[in-house]
Amino acid sequence: MSASIRTLGAEEAAARLDALSALLIDSVEGGASVGFLMPMTRAKADAFWRKVIADVAAGVRRLLVAESAAIGIVGSVQLVFAAPENQPHRADVSKLLVLRSARRQGIGDTLMQAVETEALAAGRTVLVLDTATAEAERVYQRTGWTRLGALPDYALMPDGSLCDTVLYFKRLSR
Ligand SMILES: CC(C)(COP(=O)(O)OP(=O)(O)OC[C@H]1O[C@@H](n2cnc3c(N)ncnc32)[C@H](O)[C@@H]1OP(=O)(O)O)[C@@H](O)C(=O)NCCC(=O)NCCS
Repeated sequence: MSASIRTLGAEEAAARLDALSALLIDSVEGGASVGFLMPMTRAKADAFWRKVIADVAAGVRRLLVAESAAIGIVGSVQLVFAAPENQPHRADVSKLLVLRSARRQGIGDTLMQAVETEALAAGRTVLVLDTATAEAERVYQRTGWTRLGALPDYALMPDGSLCDTVLYFKRLSR
């Protein structure tokens, strides 16, 4: 499947709320620790994306999606600009998600490359992320991120069991 990457504005994202929520629900139901516990509901997913869309409208977050001609949105990732005035060069990368039916085709890697390009264009040269997902760790290591270490028992898996989170950073240069 070939997917193209696009940065969505707030209005476009609001118009795609159904697809964005379906993407998030699919990952949580697949067992990913991305901020939610089972049962995952449409209401929780919609509330999450509405906050993201408000941040996009406020200019503090970027939302990138991967789209295929056949399915529409098959993946997404976010860039969250650091708020403190002494971190104008830093951003967090968040919620790398690919539909289970579209995985293992390179979309995760492509989204990460695109979010780095977006960060650099916005002058953000120090990126940070955390993950509890082994597949995601392999994406980050392939795309040149540095593993800092694991924070034990940081969060819960969707089924309520404790999980570590692993911190990564990447320094970008022009
Ligand atoms: C982590 C995640 C985004 C990866 O997405 P993805 O699109 O499957 O990632 P990629 O396709 O780039 O890479 C995945 C694997 O497919 C392989 N692959 C890529 N293209 C391939 C192809 N054409 N043929 C066969 N394998 C391929 C990669 O080498 C990689 O292999 P590995 O896992 O053995 O290292 C996805 O698993 C996901 O959404 N997980 C749930 C949400 C989550 O936990 N996200 C992380 C939040 S921090």
